[in-house]
Amino acid sequence: MTDDFAQRYGPWAVIAGASEGVGASLADQLAERGLNLVLIARSEALLDEVAAGVRERHGVEARAVVQDLTDSEVAAKLAAATDGLEIGLVIYNAGATDRTTSFLENGFDHALKQIKLDCIGPVALVDQFAPAMCDRGRGGIVLVASLACVAGSATLAVYSAVKAFQHNFAEGLWAELREFGVEVCCTPLGATYTPALQRMGIRYDPAMQMLSEDVAREITENIGNGPVHVVGENNRAVASQIWTVDRRTLVEMMSAASIDFASKSET
Ligand SMILES: NC(=O)c1ccc[n+]([C@@H]2O[C@H](COP(=O)([O-])OP(=O)(O)OC[C@H]3O[C@@H](n4cnc5c(N)ncnc54)[C@H](OP(=O)(O)O)[C@@H]3O)[C@@H](O)[C@H]2O)c1
Repeated sequence: MTDDFAQRYGPWAVIAGASEGVGASLADQLAERGLNLVLIARSEALLDEVAAGVRERHGVEARAVVQDLTDSEVAAKLAAATDGLEIGLVIYNAGATDRTTSFLENGFDHALKQIKLDCIGPVALVDQFAPAMCDRGRGGIVLVASLACVAGSATLAVYSAVKAFQHNFAEGLWAELREFGVEVCCTPLGATYTPALQRMGIRYDPAMQMLSEDVAREITENIGNGPVHVVGENNRAVASQIWTVDRRTLVEMMSAASIDFASKSET
């Protein structure tokens, strides 16, 4: 199982947002499955700790890349940091909101930062790493989204919008890249007890929140089950009330219609 996984998604994986919570759990679980890791986040001390931990526990290589994903030079900086590495898996995990307040209270700068983190960052990383995956005929791309993507909501106007962007972007990529053997999956989460959630002053409630290690396990086990895998049984039950058509079928229908339209417009 380890060999199959490493052959499919190795030898190196990039985790964007890997210093704590779901990202740190993903690092541990991917390393356990034999992948070397490029770990990205802003907190150098935490990132170094995660990197040292996976090297020690699982004997893999790990590079800690201290990088703000909202930096306008992010693509070039990550290209330099991963030069010479064969990246077979990209998981874009960073992207939570740090508040539940209105758009007008938050202001434009806060909105722009969220858009850079959740929209421009994933597009930059896919643009950077997907071409080589397609050339190799294998690989995986995961965008960690949120159930907030299902509809706009007060106090989360920008957050719900950027998560909807991630969701649709992943669905489109899934339809485009599968013929190259590259798997794409959007994994919306419900409430998860991460350090970021704790910093918002929210207490652990096992009835309402999942744990990072359980979320990470479900993500790693469902990379090939795109275009969308909602994480958590309760969250899937909620999503199935809203998304009454299977997303794979819907994306296939929409893709067929777009391709048909494009073919007509060329003639
Ligand atoms: N927690 C929840 O209840 C919940 C619910 C639904 C969906 N989600 C989704 O799950 C994902 C993980 O959420 P989370 O709660 O763990 O919080 P998060 O704030 O997204 O943090 C996750 C990781 O991303 C890094 N990160 C954040 N901003 C960054 C930036 N600008 N540049 C580089 N790295 C950055 C953080 O490290 P540094 O701070 O060191 O950079 C951390 O390692 C997010 O996409 C979120 O939208 C979470």
